[in-house]
Amino acid sequence: MHKYILMLHIISATIWAGGHLILVFTILPKVLNTKNIEILIRFESGFEKIGIPSLIVQVITGVWMAYDLVPDIKSWLLPHEPLAHLITYKIFLLLLTIGLAIDARLRIIPKLNENNLKSLAFHIIPVTIIAVLFIIVGVSFRTGGLF
Ligand code: HEM
Repeated sequence: MHKYILMLHIISATIWAGGHLILVFTILPKVLNTKNIEILIRFESGFEKIGIPSLIVQVITGVWMAYDLVPDIKSWLLPHEPLAHLITYKIFLLLLTIGLAIDARLRIIPKLNENNLKSLAFHIIPVTIIAVLFIIVGVSFRTGGLF
């Protein structure tokens, strides 16, 4: 069962991280140069349909695997062994992602215009860096820890 959950986790990871990397390296530079918000809105409205469900799948499959590997849930927040530390990092990265997404959704996107494009960029870029960190921490479960 674990391997099938892991497969789902990896597929969703490619969507979440891949989509954000495409956004940061191909869409965002064009939007910041041309100030043409339409390009961003068109990409986001498409990506959102698959991006948000993939993040939800990440959380469900991630928590399932975390419980399978470290059933002592208390140690997820008070880690005393390498695997539990990795779960703590995952939870921290998830809270950061949710915080940035809610702030962008409530404070920036409703009044998105040429003048606050940079603030949105300062949300998209950290969320993308965090997505890559999610992968690095994730792979570390199999490679015996981060360092
Ligand atoms: C967008 C968010 C996430 C991404 C991109 C992501 C990505 C990954 C990747 C690439 C792996 C490595 C798979 C492998 O070794 O083949 C992994 C493993 C793992 N992830 Fe995530 N992950 C995310 C969110 C989460 C969350 C929220 C949790 C739980 C709190 C979590 C828990 C785990 C666990 C426990 C593993 C190890 C599975 C194993 O090696 O058997 N992940 N993740």
